[in-house]
Amino acid sequence: PIKACLFDLDGVLVDTAKYHYLAWKRLAEELGFVFTSEDNERLKGVSRMASLDILLEVGGLELDDATKSALADKKNRWYVEYISHMDEQEILPGALAFLRELRENGIRIALGSASKNAMTILNNTGLVPYFDAIIDGTKTASAKPDPEVFLLGARELGAQPQECVVFEDAEAGIEAAKRAGMRSIGIGSPEVLGAADDVVPSLQDMTTVRLLELVSHR
Ligand code: BG6
Ligand code: MG
Repeated sequence: PIKACLFDLDGVLVDTAKYHYLAWKRLAEELGFVFTSEDNERLKGVSRMASLDILLEVGGLELDDATKSALADKKNRWYVEYISHMDEQEILPGALAFLRELRENGIRIALGSASKNAMTILNNTGLVPYFDAIIDGTKTASAKPDPEVFLLGARELGAQPQECVVFEDAEAGIEAAKRAGMRSIGIGSPEVLGAADDVVPSLQDMTTVRLLELVSHR
């Protein structure tokens, strides 16, 4: 049976990729190179410092750790300013209806996000009350594809991995779910998320019936 659903935040419940991109692009401009939206695809689901490494690789720059940490802080200050204006309008279509449906069906719900800014986003969008457990980048030591974030979520919900389903828009997140021994549903395109047990374009296409079907087939 399915006892719990674990949700990634950025790109699954809210569209924050555009704010991450604005901030990284601004940093690249300051450093004197162009960072395109295609480049930005590589940052999905990736931790802040790993994202900076990819950005610097695109710009052909090699910097010492102190400089890198200052740049990551600067990017984050811009990002925090952007997300401070978010409200419930920026919850992705279908997300609230699906979260409510899960709750009505007695399924426990956790957040499993890499972001250290998750609480700000959840507060600004009014999403906090939908979760029975919230695991974010402030509570984990290892980033996805490490399974830590989802294993902590399952433990807090009192569910076994095989009773959990993860919702993810990033390849690294699907891999993390697999390594946790959980089933996963990709939100986005099958080309990118082919490793997931099922892929839907958005949570608008998700229902409890489809969720239970997924389980009965495995
Ligand atoms: C993930 C995003 O959810 O969180 C990544 O997909 C981001 O793009 C990562 O880098 C870390 O977020 P933050 O807010 O801690 O910099
Ligand atoms: Mg994501």
